[in-house]
Amino acid sequence: MSSMSIQNSVIKDLKLAPEGHLKIDWVEAHMPVLNRVRKQFEEEQPFKGLKVAISLHLEAKTAYLAKVVQAGGAEVTITGSNPLSTQDDVCAALVEDGITVFAKYNPEPEEYKELLIRALETKPDLLIDDGGDLVTILHAERPDLLDGIRGGAEETTTGILRLKSLEKEGALTFPMVAVNDAYCKYLFDNRYGTGQSVWDGINRTTNLVVAGKTVVVVGYGWCGKGVAMRAKGLGANVIVTEVDAIKAVEAYMDGFRVMPMGEAAKLGDFFVTVTGNRDVISGEHYDVMKDGAILSNAGHFDVEVNKPDLASRSTLVRTVRRNIEEYQLHDGRKIYLLAEGRLVNLAAGDGHPAEIMDMTFALQALSLKYVNDNYNKISSRVVNVPYELDEQVARYKLESVGIHIDKLSETQTAYLNSWAQH
Ligand SMILES: NC(=O)c1ccc[n+]([C@@H]2O[C@H](COP(=O)([O-])OP(=O)(O)OC[C@H]3O[C@@H](n4cnc5c(N)ncnc54)[C@H](O)[C@@H]3O)[C@@H](O)[C@H]2O)c1
Repeated sequence: MSSMSIQNSVIKDLKLAPEGHLKIDWVEAHMPVLNRVRKQFEEEQPFKGLKVAISLHLEAKTAYLAKVVQAGGAEVTITGSNPLSTQDDVCAALVEDGITVFAKYNPEPEEYKELLIRALETKPDLLIDDGGDLVTILHAERPDLLDGIRGGAEETTTGILRLKSLEKEGALTFPMVAVNDAYCKYLFDNRYGTGQSVWDGINRTTNLVVAGKTVVVVGYGWCGKGVAMRAKGLGANVIVTEVDAIKAVEAYMDGFRVMPMGEAAKLGDFFVTVTGNRDVISGEHYDVMKDGAILSNAGHFDVEVNKPDLASRSTLVRTVRRNIEEYQLHDGRKIYLLAEGRLVNLAAGDGHPAEIMDMTFALQALSLKYVNDNYNKISSRVVNVPYELDEQVARYKLESVGIHIDKLSETQTAYLNSWAQH
C-alpha cells in the first residue's frame, strides 16, 4: 500500500476497498488480452519514471487498466469521466494498490471539475482521456499545466471530435492517439458493447418488458447500430431516426423503420439517444409523446435529451426509482428520464462487458506506449492507432477464445498484389 496515494487521494471511503478488490479481480479474470499486455509491460517497463493521468469512467475495468499502466512502471493518477459513473469501492481499492485517485460518486459539479484539475496538477507526462475533458481543461483553462505533456490517447467519438476541432485551430499542443477510431474499438466496443450494456442499464433500472414495445434509437452510428440490433433481439419494434442519408439507408436495409423524430416521438415507448449531438429530443417532441414514455441517453454528454425543455413543461419532478426521474407534464402525462440523461449504461449500469473492454483497454495501453515511444517524431495532432497494434489486439483476442484462421499462401499474396495477374 502506498502512503503517497492515500495521503493525496480524494475518495469517498477507504473502507469500501474489499468490495472494490473483488470487482477488479473479476474483470481481470475476463480480460485475457489486457493480461498479455500487462506481461509485456512488466518485462519492458515502458513508463518507468513517468507520470500518467487517466480520466475514464471509473469502474472495475478502468481500474484494471490503471493497474496495467502502473505495472509498466508509471506513477498513475486517476479521476472520473462522469459524475455518476464512478464506483466508490473501486476507487478505494485502487488507493490501496498505490494509485492516486481523485474521484467519488456524484460530487457537486464544481467539485467534479476540481477533481479533474487535481489529476492534472500532478504534472503528468502522458494522458488517457475520455470525451476530451482533460485536454479541454488544459488548453482552455490551465495552459500553465501543459508543459511537459508528451501526449496521450483518447477513448471516445465525442472526444475525438473535440480534439479535431482543437487541432483545426492549430491549438493542440501534443499528439493524441484516436483509440476510438481503431477497428478493435468501434466495431466491438461502440457496437456490441453499447448494444448490450445499454439494455442492461435500461432493464435493471426499469425492470420492464421490452418485447412488443416500440424503441426509438436516435442516431445510427456504431453505437446506434448495436442498440438497435439488441432492441430487435429483445423483441422490440425498432424505429431509427437519423440526419445522415447513408446511415438512414443502412438502417432501412437492416430492417428498421426510419422516420423523423417528430413522427417517432409519437410512437416510442423507449427512446435511446446515441448521436454525440445536442437537443436531439427536445420541446416539440415532448409535446407529442405517449404517457409513460421512457427516455435514456447513451451518447457521451447529458445534452442529447434536452432537460431544460422537459423541466419547463413539468409541474412536478420526482425520483420514483433509483436512476428514474418522473416528469409530470402540465396535461397530466408522465415522461420518465433515466440516469439524469447521462450515459445510461454507465450511470445506471456497470458499462460494457469486461471481454469488450479487454480489447479497448489493450488498445489504450498499447497506444499510450506508442505515443510515449514516438512523441518526438509525431507532431501535435490527432493520430490513428497504428494498424499493427489494432491487428495485434485482434490476434490476441482470437487466441484467447481458441480460434485459428487461415494464412495467405505466397501465390495468393502475389496474386493480390499484382495488377497483371487475373
Ligand atoms: N455509452 C457508451 O458506452 C458509449 C460508447 C462509445 C461511444 N459513446 C458515445 O456515443 C456517441 C455516438 O458514438 P458513435 O461512435 O455511434 O458515433 P457515430 O459518429 O458513429 O454516430 C453518431 C450518429 O448520430 C447521427 N446524428 C447526429 N445528429 C443527429 C440527430 N440530430 N438526429 C439523429 N441522428 C443524428 C449521425 O449522423 C451519426 O450517424 C458519442 O457521443 C460517443 O462518444 C458512448
